[in-house]
This record gives sequence, structure tokens and C-alpha cells, in this order.
Amino acid sequence: MSVASWLVSKVKNWQIKREMGYPYAESRPDKQIAYVFDINKCIACQTCSVACKTTWTSGKGQEVMFWNNVETKPYGGYPLRWDLNILKRLNGQSWDKDGTYTGKTVFEAAPQGERVLGWLPGEEDYSYPNIGEDECSEIVERGDFFSGIHKVWMFYLARICNHCTYPACLAACPRKAIYKRKEDGIVLVDQSRCRGYRECVRACPYKKTFFNLVTRISEKCIGCYPLVEKGEQPRCVTTCIGKIRLQGFLSKPDSPRKDNPIDFLVYYKRVALPLYPQFGLEPNVYYIPPVHVPREFLYQMFGPGVDNAIETYRNAKNDKELLAVFMLFGSTNKIIHSFKVEKEYALGFDNSGELLARVPVYIRPYFDKKNGTYRHNIP
Ligand code: SF4
Ligand code: SF4
Ligand code: F3S
Repeated sequence: MSVASWLVSKVKNWQIKREMGYPYAESRPDKQIAYVFDINKCIACQTCSVACKTTWTSGKGQEVMFWNNVETKPYGGYPLRWDLNILKRLNGQSWDKDGTYTGKTVFEAAPQGERVLGWLPGEEDYSYPNIGEDECSEIVERGDFFSGIHKVWMFYLARICNHCTYPACLAACPRKAIYKRKEDGIVLVDQSRCRGYRECVRACPYKKTFFNLVTRISEKCIGCYPLVEKGEQPRCVTTCIGKIRLQGFLSKPDSPRKDNPIDFLVYYKRVALPLYPQFGLEPNVYYIPPVHVPREFLYQMFGPGVDNAIETYRNAKNDKELLAVFMLFGSTNKIIHSFKVEKEYALGFDNSGELLARVPVYIRPYFDKKNGTYRHNIP
């Protein structure tokens, strides 16, 4: 593999199971902000998008900024074709049998003289925030509904900045205006250093840095750090109607803690997977893949761990600890550092061991005798 000469450091990327080139040395934060989103539960109500917008991006020049957006896959995407454009440029990705990525990352595939393989969206690309919403991948023809096999599919993908371990935005900025905080791994743009070069916008494959046309500098999700510093979860998490989100801190890959709900889901159960791990950024928003979507599509989006994740998710009803962590989603606005199961309850604690949440670990019966109705449980 020919590697650009500026890729001076070899860093370990656990998501692609190998070392890769990156312009800066490996420097993991003391703890890493991380999120788990359960795609199966998202209803695309956009409450998260509105909560973020009204909190952080309602000013002049921020009209096109959606630090949080929810798009319908396979046809939706904001900005337009953000994922297709970079997948096409990467020109094929490959994994070997043991889950090692054998293709190139966006750093390794950078053209001569550039630090990251990227592209800069145009004005038009920011014009359709809800394109493809609720569109299925096949035409629903008359009769299909009754055929017994539901071939059409779609799902909602909620997206925020991934506060990547190896941020492409940070790597690309010639002004060194982007930094990753040592205390929590949140990635921020230093507004006083930024000169509007837009290399960050070009480089981020998730297109989660935005250029402000009024101030002429870039802005991005700030991980709601004023809340996180107070021990509270971000706005997009606590306002989530579907309770699909949990924010916490991911431990370093060599020292996971089983009682940390995020470590438990990501490292132990491997039920939550990174979005496009092949890009090489080690993103820190982890998704529980949708169970009803064709696997090929999911392999491309979440890597080779999809089968295990779906099997584990479907088995949650027989796994009390896993079920307990799921019950803690949306149970408190505080950050849960550890959990345990006690009798029929899931307990969540803060970093000093104070009890934050106590919720029953309970599966509703499929048929509700009292009300004479059937209920739907996802797994
Ligand atoms: Fe930077 Fe994009 Fe990663 Fe966020 S998702 S840290 S904007 S590279
Ligand atoms: Fe917006 Fe905060 Fe969520 Fe980032 S963490 S998308 S700033 S609400
Ligand atoms: Fe750097 Fe992006 Fe500003 S490249 S100078 S942070 S617009």
C-alpha cells in the first residue's frame, strides 16, 4: 500500500483492526464522549434536530446548519449524497475474514499533496435537508401489501458529529484551529484561530463541519460540552422521544469496564457499531443496526460486525443485563457511568456512585388480555 509521505504517525484503529497512517501521533483522551443510537427505535420525529437547532444554530449564517439531522436511508442524506460521494471516491472497500479492513482509509487514499480524501459540498447540496424522507427502496405496488413478504424497506439514520478519535477535520486544518479535548474527547473548532479555509468541511466524510457564510468561519456540534461538564447528557439525547439514545464515555480499547453501559454495548456485546468504520476516523457514535434491512447494505454502512450485532439484539429478551442497559436509555438526563441489575430492576449510577435511575426490566406481553390488543416488541 503506497502511503502519502505526510502520514507521519502509525496509529492503532481498533475498529478496522489494524494500524493506519495519520498526521498526528496517537493520543487518546482520558475518557471519550460516545453515544449509542438504537436505529430500530427511531421514529424520525426530528425532535433532536429541533432541540439542537434552537439551542445552538438559530443565528445568522447558521440556516443550513444541522449539527443533528435525521435522514431516511437509502435515499435521504444531508448534505446531498454525503455518503455516496465519498464511497465512490474510495472506490471499493474490502475486509478480510477476521474483520480487518484491507482497503484504504480516507487518510491513506488522499491524493498527492492533500491530507484527506474529501470533497466540498456546493450550495445546492445544502438545499434539501429532508430529501428522500420516508421513501422506500422499492415501489410499493398494489397487492404488495398483501403478499405476506414485505420487500420494501427504509430506516431512519440520526446523525451528529462523531467526535472521532482520529478526526479528519482536525487533520486537514492548516491553521490547527480544530482540537480534541483531553478530558472528554469532544472535538471543537477554535473560533478565534479559524480563518475559513474550509479544509475541515472538505475532509469530514460525514460532512459534520459547516461553514458560516456570515461569519466566514466554520462551526460544528460541540457535544453540548456545557452540559457534559455538569454531568448531563446532550440536548439531542435527553429530548429524544423514542429514547433511542444513550450518551456516556467509552473507555480506552485496552481497558474496558463491563459495568460501563457504553463499554458493555460496544466492546462486550458488540451490539452497537460505528458508522462507516472503513473511513478510518474511529467515530464514536455507535449504532444498533436495523434488523429488517438487507445485510449487504448494512455491511457497507457498519462493517463486518453486523450479523453478530443483530443476533445479539434479537436475543436481548433472554439477556437480562443487555435488556437492563436498553431500559436505561432515556431514563435520566444525567450521564450514567455504571449500571447493575438488581432483582427486576436496572440501576444506573453517576461517577461517584450516586443512584441516577431505577427502571423495571420488563418485556410487555405480546397480547394484552386486559385491553384485548396485540403489542409489538422490536427484537
Ligand atoms: Fe470532525 Fe467530522 Fe469526525 Fe466530527 S465527524 S470529529 S466533524 S471528522
Ligand atoms: Fe446538537 Fe448538542 Fe446534540 Fe451536538 S450534542 S448535535 S450540539 S444537541
Ligand atoms: Fe481550519 Fe476549517 Fe477554519 S480548515 S481554518 S477550521 S474553516
